[in-house]
Amino acid sequence: MAPIISVQNLTKTYANGFEALKGINLTVEKGEILALLGPNGAGKTTLISIICGIANPSGGQVLVAGHDVVKDFRATRSMIGLVPQELTTDQFETVFNTVSFSRGLHGKKADPAHIEKVLRALSLWDKKDNMLRQLSGGMKRRVLIAKALSHEPDILFLDEPTAGVDVTLRKDMWNVVEQLRASGVTIILTTHYIEEAEEIADRVGVINGGQLLLVEDKAALMAKLGRKQLILDLTEPLERLPDCFAGNGLTLEADGCRLTYEFDADNEQESIATLLTRLGENNIHFKDLSTRQSSLADIFVALVGAAK
Ligand SMILES: Nc1ncnc2c1ncn2[C@@H]1O[C@H](COP(=O)(O)OP(=O)(O)OP(=O)(O)O)[C@@H](O)[C@H]1O
Ligand SMILES: [Mg+2]
Repeated sequence: MAPIISVQNLTKTYANGFEALKGINLTVEKGEILALLGPNGAGKTTLISIICGIANPSGGQVLVAGHDVVKDFRATRSMIGLVPQELTTDQFETVFNTVSFSRGLHGKKADPAHIEKVLRALSLWDKKDNMLRQLSGGMKRRVLIAKALSHEPDILFLDEPTAGVDVTLRKDMWNVVEQLRASGVTIILTTHYIEEAEEIADRVGVINGGQLLLVEDKAALMAKLGRKQLILDLTEPLERLPDCFAGNGLTLEADGCRLTYEFDADNEQESIATLLTRLGENNIHFKDLSTRQSSLADIFVALVGAAK
């Protein structure tokens, strides 16, 4: 099946000459959840804005369901729901009307039952007659999500959806995301919260300085780049590591009371078993043993750090 989004050699140079995107290539399959991770200013919002057709590319091409986002703007935009990073709402309109109006803007017939469903799912139903200026910041963010879902999009972009949001909304939001995914909606979100990406994404893209450093299946990424650590608390402190252990990922810490061992996630049995036998042969004994696996956060910091 053709990808639902295809980004080819995409570049963006802003009017002041700043190069925000430097040749992005990315394909997204229908129904997946892709998380884009990257530090402030990486180019996440720029990339999303171009895919959504609200900013123009400087070079390259973006296709959504086979349609060019510049030439076929109306067709592609109607398939997309965008929850923008910035809060922009008409303060003097009611919640219900704002969300209904948004549906109309995308050329869809009025459907109060759908609007009600969306508002209920986001715990906004009891505020439906309130004006937006009467809502709290988190509630306004919910309205942005409701607006993005008002026209039943095939693709949903969430640009930092959980910045400044409380635990309840975060939960509501992930419930909505799960339901949408179950109904076949493709979801792309940006976040600084790596745990979030770890929890809900199928694939993770890391973007920095306008370049996509990698896009990979989350599990594969963690298996590939995730290092495991074995920690051995020794029964007796060791003055120094015997020479036969030099250069194999073993380090002596905590005044000689602890040995840590870095190993690949894939071949753990063999390497740990070998190591423990060899330690025993060298009269090194331990009283406690634990393992630690690097998180997506460690991987992210290592990648972005290395690219600088
Ligand atoms: N209109 C503009 N004119 C000039 N430069 C811009 C403009 N908009 C964004 N930029 C620059 O482009 C770069 C990428 O910005 P972008 O908003 O895409 O980053 P981001 O990854 O979304 O960051 P954040 O995590 O802070 O939201 C930044 O260096 C920013 O200063
Ligand atoms: Mg942004």
